[in-house]
Amino acid sequence: MTENVTPEIKYIGVDDLDLDLFESQYVVPEGMSYNSYLILDRKVAVMDTVDARKGQEWLSALDKALDGRKPDYLVVQHMEPDHSGSILELTRRFPGIRIVATAKALVFLGQFFDGVSFDTLTVKEGDTLELGSHTLRFLTAPMVHWPEVMVTFDEKDKVLFAADAFGKFGALSKCGQFGDEDDDWACEARRYYFNICGKYGAPVQVLLKKVLPLAPAVIAPLHGPILRENLGEYIGLYQTWSTYGVETEGVFIACASIHGGTLAAAERLKEILLAKGCPKVALADLTRDDQAEAVEDAFRYGRMVLCAASYDGGLFSPAYAFLHTLQMKSWQKRKVALVENGTWAPSAGKVMKEMFGAMKDVEIVGETVTLRSRMKESDIPAMEALADAILQ
Ligand code: FEO
Repeated sequence: MTENVTPEIKYIGVDDLDLDLFESQYVVPEGMSYNSYLILDRKVAVMDTVDARKGQEWLSALDKALDGRKPDYLVVQHMEPDHSGSILELTRRFPGIRIVATAKALVFLGQFFDGVSFDTLTVKEGDTLELGSHTLRFLTAPMVHWPEVMVTFDEKDKVLFAADAFGKFGALSKCGQFGDEDDDWACEARRYYFNICGKYGAPVQVLLKKVLPLAPAVIAPLHGPILRENLGEYIGLYQTWSTYGVETEGVFIACASIHGGTLAAAERLKEILLAKGCPKVALADLTRDDQAEAVEDAFRYGRMVLCAASYDGGLFSPAYAFLHTLQMKSWQKRKVALVENGTWAPSAGKVMKEMFGAMKDVEIVGETVTLRSRMKESDIPAMEALADAILQ
């Protein structure tokens, strides 16, 4: 059962509980929601479609909500296939429907649906569309998360249709239709944000500056719960995340260990940091834990220690892949400390220094600790000094 967003705005999205990997890369143990909305006014507007995997289910929900009426407009805010995948089915069912989108989105529409002609209306920054008592205002949001993206503000009910912004992993049947029913929105919203939009902090800031003066009463994203209470809390988190600020005081230890020696050292370092009064220490095993979770924690905390084994004269590949992902996501404004391990020719530290050196405002602190096979009592002074350096 779903509730209406407002009396004239209906939720018609669908849950996907069978998806193995979102974007073929992110585990979604609680599934995923593809949100879509219907505005019933003198004119009827559908707000985005859903992934083709759930197209039929979505069309059934749409038919039910339409209750015999026909949609006049399909507003396409984002052309990524998790939202545009059912456009063709919709336009075949309702041939008179007009697609409202940015010029760039219409280019992408042609690329995804080659040879199909659509009735379209191109909109640009600030354009409006009157449905009757509802007026939709379109605001472009390039690179949140693709270049063609726009968001839509319903001036009557003050609903912000936010595209991918304020989205979250997880099906609504698992976390609730509304944010206030969700015990821990930030956990999966943070993993979603940094992995999907982490690179695009500046465009997210531009969008926030445009939409906050409109004082939205409801934020209706394309994934995850609809937000209608405590909006200041969600917006505050987005301000921190999009400016690469520190959300939680503490240290994140990321570890890539081959035979357990480096992991044992990382666990010992965690004890040392806690004993020195560090308020929180999170530890991820890069060889087995979800990498997207590790990326999330790298952004969440202001300080990180990377403990990694050497391999083939370089850096053990799980650590290399992690650093490569951080580079892609524009990870920045952080302090790091390094622990390398090697039985005969430790080489991890050199690669880690080069990779962190290429990142913006990343400061390497303390002396890199070099372990030989296993951490020994004689290594403790160096580990203590490293802990002091990262905590300073
Ligand atoms: Fe949910 Fe960028 O698509």
